[in-house]
Amino acid sequence: MNLFTPFTLGSIKCQNRIGMAAMSRQRCDNKEMIPTQMMKQYYMQRCTAGFIITEGLPLSLDSIAQDGSSAIFNINQAQAWSEIVEALHQKGCKIIAQLWHCGRVTNQIKTPLAPSAIKIRNSKYNEPKEMSIDEIQEVVKQYLECSKLIKYAGFDGIEIQASSGYLLDSFLKGSANKRTDEYGGCVENRCRIVLEIIDKLGSVFDIQRIGIKISPITRQYDSYDPNPKELYKYLLEQLNQRKVGFIEIRDDDYPENWLDFGYPSSKSDIENVFEFCRPLFKGQIIGNGKVTPERGEELIKKQYCDAITFGRLFTSNPDLVEKIKNGEKLNEVDTSTLLSQGPKGYIC
Ligand SMILES: Cc1cc2nc3c(=O)[nH]c(=O)nc-3n(C[C@H](O)[C@H](O)[C@H](O)COP(=O)(O)O)c2cc1C
Repeated sequence: MNLFTPFTLGSIKCQNRIGMAAMSRQRCDNKEMIPTQMMKQYYMQRCTAGFIITEGLPLSLDSIAQDGSSAIFNINQAQAWSEIVEALHQKGCKIIAQLWHCGRVTNQIKTPLAPSAIKIRNSKYNEPKEMSIDEIQEVVKQYLECSKLIKYAGFDGIEIQASSGYLLDSFLKGSANKRTDEYGGCVENRCRIVLEIIDKLGSVFDIQRIGIKISPITRQYDSYDPNPKELYKYLLEQLNQRKVGFIEIRDDDYPENWLDFGYPSSKSDIENVFEFCRPLFKGQIIGNGKVTPERGEELIKKQYCDAITFGRLFTSNPDLVEKIKNGEKLNEVDTSTLLSQGPKGYIC
């Protein structure tokens, strides 16, 4: 078994085990947040991937991290996405919509929403407000409404963004969640919003086509849990009970994420996050986070992961699948165009 062996992600049949990770590239140039022809071209250039996870799609105007995002919270956006979905399907590539609420990681609104009114230290972001129970329920409802549009647009699956310091990660992790109600405190309470969202999505979409992106050991945007083993053991058990199709695990090897906040290093909590999660989760595991093609092969061979998503490597190598297959040299990532405007560094 290797990166090129076909497989089934939950119940999504994929031509290989190489996926493109979600990347917001800020290229949507209309305020209606409707995906454009240039975006379609970008996704199509990467259609030899077994599956593509879209850029994070905000649920609402409150949930946007940055300018240039596209979305899927209204019918016009969904119709434009359906054209991209259809074009990728014709090439045999599967596409999963990522739903994203950025929580306190935004400067698009004055008062961001978060589990608790705790500012991200050493950052440009404003102090957020602690969400009321009604606001939490409203967000859960927004996930449900977006999932109906995702189904309408013909996507193969949905990924819930619950990693990297954004809203759901900040609910999960103790440093950002100091609530004293049923959404904070013990592990069961901190996982509640994620599980409520999954239950809602499962009422619309085949649960085997639903997945969640997690980052048990990241400290990104000041979201840190001192006891990730207990937290993720419970969360993954709950996902198993619901028969969730897949999880994408983001590894962490970014010292700035812990040094900036005075946290212990990521690897001090869990040395190999893929190995740790494997026996805990019954569905498919996607590995991500500075994974090289060589490490990806090894993670699959050892069966810690079933597939790998590459992020930045796909930006500079749209033909990443062919290059890995042929052992060709990969282009360097151009960091200056990761988040910029226009076709430069986007369309190859
Ligand atoms: C420009 C850029 C935008 C990103 N946007 C998102 C996003 O919208 N949603 C998300 O879950 N992760 C996002 N990420 C993180 C990637 O999905 C991935 O987890 C990360 O880049 C690590 O994988 P890599 O080392 O293969 O790039 C982004 C990363 C980059 C570089």
